[in-house]
Amino acid sequence: MARRSRAQAPASPEAEAAQQVPPPVIQVRHLTKSYGHGDATVHALRGPDDPQTGQPLGVSLDIEQGDFVAVMGSSGSGKSTLMNILGCLDIPTKGRYLLDGTDVGHLDETQLSLVRNRKIGFIFQSFNLVPRTTALAQVELPLAYAGVRAAERRKRALAALALVGLSGRADHKPNQLSGGQQQRVAVARALVTAPAMLLADEPTGNLDSRSTEEVLTIIDGLNTTGRTVVLITHEDEVAEHAKRVIRLVDGQIISDVRQGPVVGPPPVLARQLAAQPAAALIGGRP
Ligand SMILES: Nc1ncnc2c1ncn2[C@@H]1O[C@H](COP(=O)(O)OP(=O)(O)OP(=O)(O)O)[C@@H](O)[C@H]1O
Ligand SMILES: [Mg+2]
Repeated sequence: MARRSRAQAPASPEAEAAQQVPPPVIQVRHLTKSYGHGDATVHALRGPDDPQTGQPLGVSLDIEQGDFVAVMGSSGSGKSTLMNILGCLDIPTKGRYLLDGTDVGHLDETQLSLVRNRKIGFIFQSFNLVPRTTALAQVELPLAYAGVRAAERRKRALAALALVGLSGRADHKPNQLSGGQQQRVAVARALVTAPAMLLADEPTGNLDSRSTEEVLTIIDGLNTTGRTVVLITHEDEVAEHAKRVIRLVDGQIISDVRQGPVVGPPPVLARQLAAQPAAALIGGRP
């Protein structure tokens, strides 16, 4: 009797369950965002037009848990508008947004701020650090909002600063740090609450090439350990780090390209790991 190949064999319920992927962390359906009225209306997010009515159908998008998505597009194409809605910093004009299965359209302002604090870490181009405040205190801040006790806050903030290579700068204030170091403080602040998702709006836009690489290496590492990352960028070198690249033109997704699998390290890190000699991977490295 001819044997079936593994690929053709019907999957058992157990095997199917094992293969089941979690639902997308982001589910966006027919999302539009408009500003102004009448002839002066700006559709910052519009999606394709309905061929019958000519009305915007809105943007629809799923993002899997563990993915690393770069959003690209020229100035005014709607990148920050999309990011602000994904981060629950703004509400859409129309459409639905499910974050981790929760329809955020049904949440009030208090619930939304809880979602922002618990599920999302933000990184902005301009760092958004608090002036005259030490790196340690900056990173402790989201934990204070979350009601974490002082000793635990300090422990977790120091661990986050260590992760971004800034253990030696915990007592430094923003004006005593380089741009790259300030952004690494902002990354530590974004990850200290262990959010499911990191949202970064041009995080390397104000950084030189060396600091850009440092910050991207940290983001690559966070994604490798399962953190979902959505990052806006104008730069191809930055987008190379993503597993998927979405391009916006005039509030519409015009291309969506996968550069690497959802699970595992993102492409640049995967290439670096593959290029390492086997000895380095099994601990031959200092
Ligand atoms: N508060 C607002 N009121 C009116 N129009 C707005 C507002 N915010 C954004 N827009 C418009 O919406 C469109 C999309 O803006 P958005 O900030 O999302 O662009 P972007 O892709 O992030 O651009 P950039 O690369 O310059 O940051 C633009 O035409 C902008 O002028
Ligand atoms: Mg923007």
